[in-house]
Order: sequence, then structure tokens, then C-alpha cells
Amino acid sequence: MSPSGVEPTVEVHLTPAELRQALHDDVRRGLLAPTGEKRLPPVWFYDDVGSELFEAITELPEYYPTRAERLLLTSHADDIAGRAKAATLVELGAGTCDKSRILLDALCRAGCLETYVPLDVSQATLCQAAAELGGEYPGLAVRAVVGDFHRHLDRLPTGGPTLVAFLGGTIGNLLPDQRRRFLFDLGCRQEAGDSLLLGTDLVKDASRLVAAYDDATGVTAAFNRNVLAVLNRELGADFDLDGFAHVARWDAEQRWIEMRLRALGSQRACLSALDTEVAFEDGEELLTEISAKFTREQVESELWEAGFVVGGMWDRPGGDFLLTLASPYC
Ligand code: SAH
Ligand code: AVI
Repeated sequence: MSPSGVEPTVEVHLTPAELRQALHDDVRRGLLAPTGEKRLPPVWFYDDVGSELFEAITELPEYYPTRAERLLLTSHADDIAGRAKAATLVELGAGTCDKSRILLDALCRAGCLETYVPLDVSQATLCQAAAELGGEYPGLAVRAVVGDFHRHLDRLPTGGPTLVAFLGGTIGNLLPDQRRRFLFDLGCRQEAGDSLLLGTDLVKDASRLVAAYDDATGVTAAFNRNVLAVLNRELGADFDLDGFAHVARWDAEQRWIEMRLRALGSQRACLSALDTEVAFEDGEELLTEISAKFTREQVESELWEAGFVVGGMWDRPGGDFLLTLASPYC
């Protein structure tokens, strides 16, 4: 129990059965696709092990986005809080809610915040974060939601002016069509007085980008291969994790990093739960994630198309990362 007696709550909108069905659908659609078209959405990285590996990534010397965003939040959270004047902070893909504390502190200082709603697919990470926050922020109602930000925006508790934060550059992990639909859905749900705080990684030198996704100690490689361990556990599959190489490639035309797993020799895995098997030719790749990088102009125009007008943008000279505050123009 938190000191104020307000117990954090956790609403679960993704039951084990729904998760299993979603995984089966994604695997049928993506992994069983023809040669050259195999892909999986990145949401499957984040089991307990994957969530811990992501936390380790955020501390790597090569992985600058988390540090860059933290610096921006530290410098500008009071300004953001003063403009948003939010009674409710919703955070999508909140993970451990680590950087969120900077925003929570600023909104508390501004004297307006009543409720924090972190949403994530990773139930264990979210429950732990919610319990910790309950103790750290007496008087704040913490209402965690286990859900998918593509499907459960309509299940989020609201109340008073709402600031939706989507941090870390996670928007870059959505495919362009998904991103458009997602921003549009978000825009449709916002009312006058609500706002969106979006963290986006910026286009930069390709060698820095590739290093950030292919670190010297192999943590990102382990994060990438972990998706095969998830398939082994959840689908009774028998992928040989050492049979796949980690690939991080900058696509200058699309302006995104692609993470792939490349078969070292021909590979075959049985997927017991689906009563089928999947074959990889030698060198064939599975696309596991895109991580799109943006320009300021692109962020502004994509937000405009989705129904938002930009109220503030913050980056640093040299511009590794960008924070954008926007509100609905309807
Ligand atoms: N916001 C944090 C964590 C980023 S990692 C930060 O900036 O450091 C991405 C987070 O999004 C993970 O916690 C992962 O579990 C979550 N996630 C990924 N896909 C999701 C989805 N479709 N719906 C909800 N959460 C998702
Ligand atoms: C969560 N997301 C913003 C991370 C990124 O940078 O695209 C996930 C990640 N993938 C590899 N390293 C980090």
C-alpha cells in the first residue's frame, strides 16, 4: 500500500489467451511468409528477458537515444508540464517508467497531476513499475494498463486535461502505415486541452546509427535473438538461436534502421503449437524491427496530417533526439 493509501491498480486487457492468438496470427502472417518476406512485429521482443535486455541496451555507450531524451526531459519538463497542465498523464509503451519520473515530478510541481496511466504489453515490468511508483508518489493514482497501443487506446482511463506521452522513439518501430493510423487514432481521441508528447530519434550519421543497433558487447544481438527464444517457449518451437546472425542495417532511402536475423546455413524449425514448420534458406533474413529516424519537418507534417498542431519542439545543438508537444487542432 502506498503511504497515502491509494493502491496502484493494474487493468489487464491482454489475457494469455489473447496474447497467444495474436502471436499465432503474427507468425502465420509474417514468419510463414515466402522467402525474402519473413517478418515479425517487434512487440514479441518484450518478454521478461527481452525487457531486461532492453534496459541493458539503454545503458550501452553506443545507444544514445535514452540518454539524449533524458537530458531533454530534465531540461524542459517544467516547461512541458506548464503548457500541458495535465490532470492525467497517459504513457504508451511505458516499460519501467524510468524517464517518466522526470515528467511526473514536473507535473506534480505544476500542481495539476492526479492520475498516471502507464500502458505496456509487458505485464511483469509494468506491475513492478506501478508498485514502485505507488510508494514514490503518495496521492497520485497509478492506474496501469496491460494492453497493446495498437488496439487498446479506447480502454484508457481519462479525466481532465490529458497528456499522452509516447517516449523513447518507440513511434519509430511502427511501419509508416501503422504510424499514420496510430497517430490518427490518437488524434481522434484527443479533446481540447489534451496534448501529446512525442519522442523521436533524429536522422544522423549512418555509422553512429548502426553502432547503436550493433553494439560491441552483443547486447542488442541477444535482444534480437531473444525473439526466437520467445517462439521456442510460446509455440513449442525448436529454433537454434546460434543458427542466426544479428544484422543491423541503415536504409538511407526509408530513413530507418532494420534489425534482421540472418540464417547461417539452411535452418528448419518445428512450430508444434501451429502444427507446422518453417524453413530458412542459407542467408535468408527475418525482419524483426524497423527503427525509423526523423527530421523536425517530418514530425511536424506527420502530426499535422493526423490532426495535431505542434506547440513546442526541443532538441539540442547537434540534434540527436527530439521532443515534440502537440495538441489537437479540431
Ligand atoms: N518508453 C520506455 C520503453 C521503450 S521500449 C523508454 O523510453 O525507455 C518499448 C516499450 O514498448 C517496451 O516496454 C514494450 O514492452 C512496449 N511495447 C512494444 N510494443 C507494444 C505494443 N504494441 N503495445 C504496448 N506496448 C508495447
Ligand atoms: C524501443 N525502441 C525505440 C528501441 C529502438 O531504438 O528502436 C528498440 C531497440 N531495438 C534495438 N535497440 C533498441
